[in-house]
Amino acid sequence: MRIAMIGTGYVGLVSGVCFSEFGFDVTCVDIDTDKIARLNQGEVPIYEPGLDTLIERNLEAGRLAFTTDFDTAVKKADVVFIAVGTPSRRGDGEADLTYVYAAARQIAAAMTPETVVVIKSTVVVGTCRKVAEIIREERPGVPFSIASNPEFLREGSAIEDFMRPDRVVVGAEDELGEAAMRKLYRPLYLRETPILVSTLENAELTKYAANAFLALKITFINEVADLCEKVGADVQKVASGIGLDKRIGGKFLHAGPGFGGSCFPKDTTALAATGQRHGAPLRLVETTIAVNETRKRDMADRVLAALGPDPKGKRVGILGIAFKPNTDDVRDAPSLVIVPALQEAGVEVVAHDPEAREQAEPLLPGLVWCDNPYDVADGVDALAIITEWNVYRGLSLADIAGRMRGRDVIDMRNIWQAADVHEAGLTYRGIGKRAGL
Ligand code: UGA
Repeated sequence: MRIAMIGTGYVGLVSGVCFSEFGFDVTCVDIDTDKIARLNQGEVPIYEPGLDTLIERNLEAGRLAFTTDFDTAVKKADVVFIAVGTPSRRGDGEADLTYVYAAARQIAAAMTPETVVVIKSTVVVGTCRKVAEIIREERPGVPFSIASNPEFLREGSAIEDFMRPDRVVVGAEDELGEAAMRKLYRPLYLRETPILVSTLENAELTKYAANAFLALKITFINEVADLCEKVGADVQKVASGIGLDKRIGGKFLHAGPGFGGSCFPKDTTALAATGQRHGAPLRLVETTIAVNETRKRDMADRVLAALGPDPKGKRVGILGIAFKPNTDDVRDAPSLVIVPALQEAGVEVVAHDPEAREQAEPLLPGLVWCDNPYDVADGVDALAIITEWNVYRGLSLADIAGRMRGRDVIDMRNIWQAADVHEAGLTYRGIGKRAGL
């Protein structure tokens, strides 16, 4: 089986590389010549643990190639994946499908008969059928198959998620498409991964419903956390208590500064827009989006409250800028709301992040960057943790306390213990517990 993967963003790159690791012959295509040149030299454009090793191994084995030559890659391929971006469209929040449709046209022009075209990009319901129409218009009479194969991997654990998924979701409505997809995922099937083959619409909507449900779950626990703070309860205890109920499940119940990243914000907005368009509004999803937006701003207010009535001229240290650990991605990260809100109040903000500086620097003008997490504490009036990088968990609190001017620690990820922080002579405010606990 020869695969062409169109688009070397997160999903395309990781999926392409992992398919080559399964032993398939994969050509990854992108229009970005610089990116392709770097990839061919084994240089990885994103921070994703383990990806560099897999790229090197499969390039060497000759199973993996990177090219800008779209037509040749498509001509050679039995299966062509579309994994291009589907950003939020300005104004209406619908997913912008321009790149998907452009790729479909170009594939149609280059493909050989009986090619299977698979959409891996997150696309709104109905897109796969539209792509099939485009291909039919461009190449009337040429047999091909269309399939939907949404991806559920998470940044930071992308390879593990691809190699050991809870399930594989496929939309395929003919023998050619279904057989190709079953063959591609056979290595996972042998490991007893459930492979759900269904209609195109079912597969497309499964992806959005999954992301929206997870975003809703996080937002739910975030609101429970607010209530915990008022009534003197501890959200971590409540989350454990409900999470052990198998109907609820313990994952994605970590209260924090609000969800971010390249998927949840964009996909919840797109799903809400789809619901409105079809006259079936998803009010819970709409509320989730609104609550999450407010939450990020509330986090900035917590820090400002710690600085007293006149925050102007005060200094705040931030640990963690990426939207979550183990990624350099800052798209829709809570830090992108919190840092500017502090700056607008006249606060000087210094920050550390193990990986995100390059991505975040142009987006956060005026932010002072430190190479070392301890330096963030130097002379600050308050210290806030926004991203739960492991390196922050074991920092010496005595050292930090010795460097700080003020005493306030705002831990938006509950990674430190209040007792330890107090022992170092600092005051602690976590999420979902009474201040000081
Ligand atoms: C998410 C989904 O988890 C993947 O299954 C999906 O494939 C992906 O979107 C996508 O659509 O491509 P990702 O955005 O990489 O993956 O990151 P998550 O680990 O889901 O985290 C998203 C956000 O939720 C982060 O800001 C994180 O800090 C936050 N979060 C997550 C919480 O605040 N609490 C939690 O308990 C879990």
